[in-house]
Amino acid sequence: MILMQSSPLLGSGNWIGSIEEVFLAILRSDAEPSKRDSDKSSKSSQTERSSVVSSRETSTDKKAEMNLRPESLKEYIGQSRLKNLFQMSLEAAKSRGEPLDHVLLYGPPGLGKTTLARILANEMGARIHVSSGPSLERPRDIIGLLHQLEQKDVLFIDEIHRLNKIAEELLYPAIEDFMVDITSGKGHATRTLRLPIPRFTLIGATTKAGRISKALRDRFGFVHRLDFYSLEELSLIVKRACKLFSLNIDEDAVAVIAGRGRGTPRIANRLIRLVRDYVHYKNYPVITVDIAHEALDSYQVDKLGLDATDRRLLEIMIETYNGGPVGIDALAATIGEDSETVEDVYEPFLIQGGLIQRTSRGRMATPKAYQHLGRTVPAMQMNLEMLISEDGSA
Ligand SMILES: Nc1ncnc2c1ncn2[C@@H]1O[C@H](COP(=O)(O)OP(=O)(O)O)[C@@H](O)[C@H]1O
Ligand SMILES: [Mg+2]
Repeated sequence: MILMQSSPLLGSGNWIGSIEEVFLAILRSDAEPSKRDSDKSSKSSQTERSSVVSSRETSTDKKAEMNLRPESLKEYIGQSRLKNLFQMSLEAAKSRGEPLDHVLLYGPPGLGKTTLARILANEMGARIHVSSGPSLERPRDIIGLLHQLEQKDVLFIDEIHRLNKIAEELLYPAIEDFMVDITSGKGHATRTLRLPIPRFTLIGATTKAGRISKALRDRFGFVHRLDFYSLEELSLIVKRACKLFSLNIDEDAVAVIAGRGRGTPRIANRLIRLVRDYVHYKNYPVITVDIAHEALDSYQVDKLGLDATDRRLLEIMIETYNGGPVGIDALAATIGEDSETVEDVYEPFLIQGGLIQRTSRGRMATPKAYQHLGRTVPAMQMNLEMLISEDGSA
């Protein structure tokens, strides 16, 4: 069965029974065997970075993060501009007795998009249904989800940029008019029916805002980017986690861990777990600055939060490509990764940290990258800024 968006034929007489029955009939009739599970695993098997500072979520993170996730806006650290905006919108929605407008959150992995979605549902006193773009493969997947919704529920779709066209088109009337268009039958027997669904809030999350169609993006009331966290904010996150883990830590040691956390709560939390294991193993009663350095050095995370792969990437840029400019594809091929991983996982922090510059001619290692690796900055590199402004890009 193909389900497409088309004109409503409400009350055509071909549909007998309640809306509930129609939904169930549709879901049953579309229940052909599926390869979804195997597809899903192959799709999600993107290159995994084995290092401790990958911002991608691992299954260990998932378990550990359950206990660390803040549950209210108050507990959510940093992102103050965003928090203020949501505070206002939540108040307004609640006073009108309406669900929150649809929200799109984007930004690098590990910055708190899923956490924020859960918090928004909590703050609204609403239930949350969690799904993801790649798992909504067939029309019945998305219809099934929409069917479960109750008034003011939150539907969270992670990796929303990976929704397929059909799923996306089914979502349009759902988010715009709170209607779902259902077409059944083939050829002359085709019937389309527009069914109402409860008013709900869609929260989409993505690491790739650019991959979302304009049509979908325009249907969100709020579109917000999450930024990397400052050292102060990350320090608060480290402190909070140490408290939750009942770990004794010196004030200065907090900054050591936060400083290596790449501006990313997920990584800061992971570093704390590593330090925790280390002090338990060594039987240290308190985490001091020296112990924090010692623990993190043993995991090869350096003072800027770079790991062995980051440093290798910079070394290749400097040695093989004379500091650049080098295209992302060439760079990715040389380190044996796909360009998407380099672009999504490695590069954002290196750019943020001022170690790589993106120019229209490709990526360049900055003088800071040379210095960080203990190399002399070649005279040509000094002119990088000029080169960038000539290119008109940064
Ligand atoms: N603002 C925050 N304050 C405190 N902890 C946070 C914050 N944002 C994220 N975290 C922590 O980082 C972890 C990763 O966040 P998550 O929401 O899963 O990131 P994303 O969905 O953007 O990849 C969470 O489990 C939570 O413990
Ligand atoms: Mg997430």
